[in-house]
Amino acid sequence: MPRLDLPMVKNKCKDMSNKIYIFDTTLRDGEQVPGCQLDTHEKVLIAKELETLGVDVIEAGFPISSPGDYKSVMEISKAVNDPVICALTRAVEKDIEVAAESLKYAKRKRIHTGIGSSDYHIKYKFNSTREKVIERAVAAVKFAKKYVEDIEFYAEDAGRADNQYLAQMVEAVIAAGATVINIPDTTGYCLPWQYGEKIKYLMEHVSNIHKAILSVHCHNDLGMATANTIAGISNGARQVEVTINGIGERAGNTSLEEVAMIIRTHSTLNMHTDIQSRQLNKISQMVSGMMNMPVQPNKAIVGANAFAHSSGIHQDGVIKHRENYEVIAPEEVGVDQSSIILTARSGKAALRYHLNRLDFKIDKEELEDVYQKFLIMADGNKDICDDDLIVMMGGELDDNKIEIGDVQVVSGSKPLKPVATVALNIDGNPFSASATGSGAINAALNAINNIIGEHLILDTFDVDSLVHGSREGGKVSLRVLYNDKLYFGYGEHDDIVMASVQAYVNAINKMKFRTVKAEEKVMGMAS
Ligand code: KIV
Ligand code: ZN
Repeated sequence: MPRLDLPMVKNKCKDMSNKIYIFDTTLRDGEQVPGCQLDTHEKVLIAKELETLGVDVIEAGFPISSPGDYKSVMEISKAVNDPVICALTRAVEKDIEVAAESLKYAKRKRIHTGIGSSDYHIKYKFNSTREKVIERAVAAVKFAKKYVEDIEFYAEDAGRADNQYLAQMVEAVIAAGATVINIPDTTGYCLPWQYGEKIKYLMEHVSNIHKAILSVHCHNDLGMATANTIAGISNGARQVEVTINGIGERAGNTSLEEVAMIIRTHSTLNMHTDIQSRQLNKISQMVSGMMNMPVQPNKAIVGANAFAHSSGIHQDGVIKHRENYEVIAPEEVGVDQSSIILTARSGKAALRYHLNRLDFKIDKEELEDVYQKFLIMADGNKDICDDDLIVMMGGELDDNKIEIGDVQVVSGSKPLKPVATVALNIDGNPFSASATGSGAINAALNAINNIIGEHLILDTFDVDSLVHGSREGGKVSLRVLYNDKLYFGYGEHDDIVMASVQAYVNAINKMKFRTVKAEEKVMGMAS
């Protein structure tokens, strides 16, 4: 298959498999979602994280659309060294001039210009003809080429465009100097085989296709974005346009983590990316937190349940051999370990696993009795935590060695940082400390870390807001990682910072100050 390497992308290929270039558009297509808007500082932080993740191209924004977007493209261009920085435009000269200006500090730059290619767009968006649209496309590429060598052209709504016409358009813009051709399924319409055939058709019918690379950009309106992307690269495309967590307009874009892990998991595809997969979980949480877009728990790769097993049959299988029920090891994507969730659907293997983890030694006959007791308890609860098991086993919880005293938080807008002062009573002795943080909650938790002298890793943090008239508060559930073990904490308060402090202290009480009577642990069950 004839191929041309992107002129502005370093090829780090170490083996003979096909490199798939990762074009991340979290900060452009992803950020278009209402409520997800970021300021320049936040965008720069995400861009740097994308660089660490190993993406090849960062689409940093649509500079003509707002002064904020213009500034973000410029600041990202300054802050990022390795990936190509790309700016979006319409096939309009002013857009292209502004984009070129915003990219002036980029070490490696690309302009992404384009126009609609389906008859819907040609007729109802541009009130034009197929011929005139190709003329505009060619003119835009030639104009952009005056400023930047690396020009990506998008044929918007290519998913619904006539393949013959699309091929003419693609051939014309490559002749005009386009180096990358983006074939967006803008409306998420195509079936995987249709989209794959479209790419194949272009590979076979565009005479100068060897002078550019084809890029796939799929939307998820019918839930097929990832499948379509894989169909595209299986038929000759070599760049994928993706977002972290699949965020994007309407049902979103193809998710980066899914494509990266499919390529990594399926060696028969004979492809590779430069994605450092162990960074995936971290960047997923960062994007979700900054953009205020929770990740659905059952989201592939990065959802909270992606490595959680709750039915008895699966738990037994995964305890015997992880690969019985997992195609990816959690560490590969930066998750510490698979979790075996205890519910009324869990079996004895899972129960024994958790009791062993909590140091309860138990033989086969005892397990039978304990399991019956467990089922009665589990029937009345959504899930069972360590405390429930300890109480069930006759252990004693001594959870209140740390009590919360006064808490004061002063919020601040940039460049001032929020500051918190927290007082705790530990074993009857008063302690207090202050700390700053990225937000009021973060500052309060940092102050607690200063008192206990540990830097704890927050694994998950969920807030369920409560609004009573003019009073706002919330329920906070969190998980803290300490010495390779996870501790759950829960808090509920009219003030969300207080609810967070309660939850954090609740988790710390469990990790540092729990006592379980040794003789009862060995005996197994209290009568
Ligand atoms: O979905 C789409 O067609 C786009 C283009 C602007 C590239 O996002
Ligand atoms: Zn798009």
